[in-house]
Amino acid sequence: MSIILKTPEEIAEMRIACRLAAEVLDYITPFVKPGVSTGEIDRLCSDYMTKVQHTTSATLNYAPPGYPPYPASICTSLNHQVCHGIPGPKPLKKDDILNIDVTVITPNGFYGDTSRMFIVGGGAILAKRLCQVTFECMWLGIAQVRPGAHLGDIGHAIQRHAEGNGFSVVREFCGHGIGRRFHEEPQVLHYGRQGTGAELRPGMIFTIEPMVNTGKAAISELPDGWTIVTRDRSLSAQWEHTILVTEDGAEVLSLSAACQPPPGLTGGALASATRNAIAALPPAPLS
Ligand code: MF3
Ligand code: CO
Ligand code: CO
Repeated sequence: MSIILKTPEEIAEMRIACRLAAEVLDYITPFVKPGVSTGEIDRLCSDYMTKVQHTTSATLNYAPPGYPPYPASICTSLNHQVCHGIPGPKPLKKDDILNIDVTVITPNGFYGDTSRMFIVGGGAILAKRLCQVTFECMWLGIAQVRPGAHLGDIGHAIQRHAEGNGFSVVREFCGHGIGRRFHEEPQVLHYGRQGTGAELRPGMIFTIEPMVNTGKAAISELPDGWTIVTRDRSLSAQWEHTILVTEDGAEVLSLSAACQPPPGLTGGALASATRNAIAALPPAPLS
């Protein structure tokens, strides 16, 4: 097994898949409010994918070895839930923080994967800081991506920023290669040492999706077989983009008209190119 280098044709397909995943998040954003349940958010996203986009959800009935089939079209991870939260009937309330993770499959069979944090109706100070620092962690990781860099450079940048802000990085889940399959090589750890791990090469496509906790890094799995929570019940946040390694750096594939632009602190050519790319995208169709 090795890391698949995508052809120009496959890269073009992945641009479409990742943009569609991001547009599901754009579409759902105005619905994420106090009183709405995550089950309702799942139904809305499912309808948007199947009826408007003609994509399918990669998560619905997803059943890797040892797991029961995942029962929903998106993942919704609330407050102390780290990832893989299952949508349900409980209404959101003010100051909840929610990760919505969308993975679509296009009619041509390509996967696009992205997630964002939503702060419901205002937000408490610690929750807002956690979401912002985790967003910065993702972008600091993205800013490491260029040919010749190593996977460990990404993990190191993320870990340093999370821990430097008094937070911790979840170890058990990582970013992943993606393409014609949901999860491919490599594993993209969100912690590590500079200069270690596989060397990045043009044509690689993988996600960067750090999970950061306000308390300790330890996690547990709920009896539903999917939902991951912080063991100390501290808050957890996650952001995810799908990234292409280009000849001279990185291209963020999961951009959309309403996605949050990179924070100032990543600086440089990548951040300005990304901001320009976001500005040049026409808005997602309204339904
Ligand atoms: N989208 C998640 C990821 O970023 C995986 C979700 S798998 C599910 O890799 F089954 F929980 F949906
Ligand atoms: Co995801
Ligand atoms: Co992913």
